[in-house]
Formats: sequence, structure tokens, C-alpha cells
Amino acid sequence: MGTDIHHLDTVTFDDELDRIEIIDQTLLPGIVKTIYLQTAEEIYEAIARLQVRGAPAIGVTAGFALYLLMKKCGASDRNAFEKEMTKTADYLNSSRPTAVNLSWALNRMKKCADRTLNSSVTEWQSLREQVLDAMRRECFAIRDEDIDACRRMGEYGLSLISDGSGILTHCNAGRLATVRYGTATAPIYLAHEKGMHLHVYCDETRPLLQGARLTAFELSSAGIETTLACDNMASSLMKAGKIQAVFVGCDRVAANGDAANKIGTSGVAILARHYGIPFYVCAPLTTIDPATPTGADIVIEERDPSEVTELWYRERMAPDNTCFSVYNPAFDVTDHDLITAIVTPKGILRAPYTDSIADVMS
Ligand code: MRU
Repeated sequence: MGTDIHHLDTVTFDDELDRIEIIDQTLLPGIVKTIYLQTAEEIYEAIARLQVRGAPAIGVTAGFALYLLMKKCGASDRNAFEKEMTKTADYLNSSRPTAVNLSWALNRMKKCADRTLNSSVTEWQSLREQVLDAMRRECFAIRDEDIDACRRMGEYGLSLISDGSGILTHCNAGRLATVRYGTATAPIYLAHEKGMHLHVYCDETRPLLQGARLTAFELSSAGIETTLACDNMASSLMKAGKIQAVFVGCDRVAANGDAANKIGTSGVAILARHYGIPFYVCAPLTTIDPATPTGADIVIEERDPSEVTELWYRERMAPDNTCFSVYNPAFDVTDHDLITAIVTPKGILRAPYTDSIADVMS
């Protein structure tokens, strides 16, 4: 346990002890605690309960997870290994539906294993060792590429920010949602490093408070001037001229540029359009899903009603009767025509997104 997250990676893997290590994000900001994941059930629960969250961090965890669980499985031949790998990947993939990084990482790991499994080696134990070796390299590559992608997005994003700006962000697309740097926060960290003066406004982000508990915490503890605002205050900040740009992350970008992100993001984009403020979505290529044609095809996770009615209250703050229900989607989709640009590790994409996304993904 400690109090600083800036010297820690959000997700790591300990090769000697064969375990995934994550900062338990459900305990932040009060407690900075690393927890260790070793079984499929522990990993599933950690993702479903948002102990590890944010699309890129979920993807990196999934990569480590499939390697770890296949290393531990006692498959006695190639077929048994393949069967177990499909079962394990399907199970992990069912932990959360919206962030495409989860299925993307699991598919990449499976493809990597399949390439080696299809080799001409016939003796099972040596083939098994080769497959696990390839899977190990692949999951660490996914981790390293995430770090590199965030750094590159930071550089491109920085070109969109001027000194002295007020930046609004929603949810947490910070270092806690990736391995390091974050996506939407990467330009902010970089600007800070270069001595630029920014003021960041964090939407609280009901109902799970990722803006308050995570973004405000990580930015302010890095020495960046940060103001927390409830979700219904964004319009007032914009009207007062305090916001010069909005930077958000995303969980899945469709082929036409529609972008799913934390519930409330779409409303912020509509407000930004009204006030003539640029609205930027930061997206690693692992979050762009050309196989999903539009935002209407993105599955939106529905979460437990108690997150809205009870989680942060001393007593239930809503009625409890048969005529009452709770609407609790975890994400919404921002229409592509509200997005000024999509910042990727390979450059800044502009409309028409169908073309610019196809180009960058090709
Ligand atoms: O439910 P969460 O906390 O996993 O939602 C996270 C977000 O919506 C982030 O903005 C998104 O994953 C991008 S993270 C770089």
C-alpha cells in the first residue's frame, strides 16, 4: 500500500510469481493498493467490478490473463489446449461488453497461439513451451504498444492545445485507464511536463465517479491544476468561457467515427457544439473497431441499479417499490458529426471519418 500512483503501472505481470498485478481502482482515491490476480474468476471479477477498468487497461489485463491461464492449464495435447483457450477467452470476454479492447486482445492472443500450434513440431511438451513463449511475448508486446500509443497520442493531442487553456474531460481516460500516461490525459501530462499552464475541469461522472475518484485524483496529485464539477455543471463552465477544448477517451469507435464512451460523454459533445468548443476523442487503434459499422451496432453495458440508488449514499436515495426502476447504461455513443477530431497514435483524424478511419487502420 502507498499513496502515490505515478510510480506504478496500472497493470503489470509478475513472471516469477505468475500473477497479474493491478491497482484496485474501486479503493481510490482513499487507498492505493495493488492486488494480485491468479485465477480466471479473480480476473473476471476484477474486470466486471471495475477494479481494473478503462478500455486499454482492460485489453492489457486480458492479454496477460490468457497467457497466465493457459500456462496454468494442464492440457495434454494440442486439441485440449485449443479447446481450453477458446473456453477461457469466451469466459473473460463476457466480463464486459462495450470496450472492444477486451475481445481485440483475446483474439490477438489466440491468433498468436494458433500460429505456433499450427507449426510442424509434433512432441506436445516442446510445442506447449513454444506456444507459451510466443503468448508471453505477445502479451508483453500489447502492454508495450499501449504505453507507446499513449505517448504518441499525447504528442499529437498537444498540438491541439494552447498554453493557458481550460480543458474539460469526462470519466477517466487517464493513466489509470491505460498502463501509463492515459489517452485523453496524455496531452495534458505532456503539456505539464513542458511547463505549459493548463487548468483541467473533471466531470464527476455519475454514477461510478471515475472523474472525481480517478481523474481529479491522478491529475491533481501530479501537480496539475484540477477543478472537479458535477456532471450537470459543464454547460455553466462552457458558458463562462472556462473551457477551450474537451478531451475524452473512448471504448469503441465504429467505422463511421461514432464513438462509445462513458455515459454522459454525448451530452458534453452536444454542449461543446452549442458553445463552439472543439471536442476531441483520443483513441488508440486498439479501440477502433472497423467491424462495427455505426454506433447503433455497439452493445452498451447496463449496470446494477444499486450503483445509482445506494452506492455512494449512507441510505438509499430513491424509492423502492414495484412502480420504480433505474436506468443505468454505462456508456453512450457520441455521433461522429459532433467530434472535431479523433486523436490516434498515428495522427489526427478528421471527417469524413469513414475515410480517415479506413486509411489509418489499413
Ligand atoms: O466503465 P469504465 O470506467 O471502464 O469506462 C471507462 C471509459 O469510459 C473511458 O473513458 C474509456 O475506457 C477510455 S480509457 C482510455
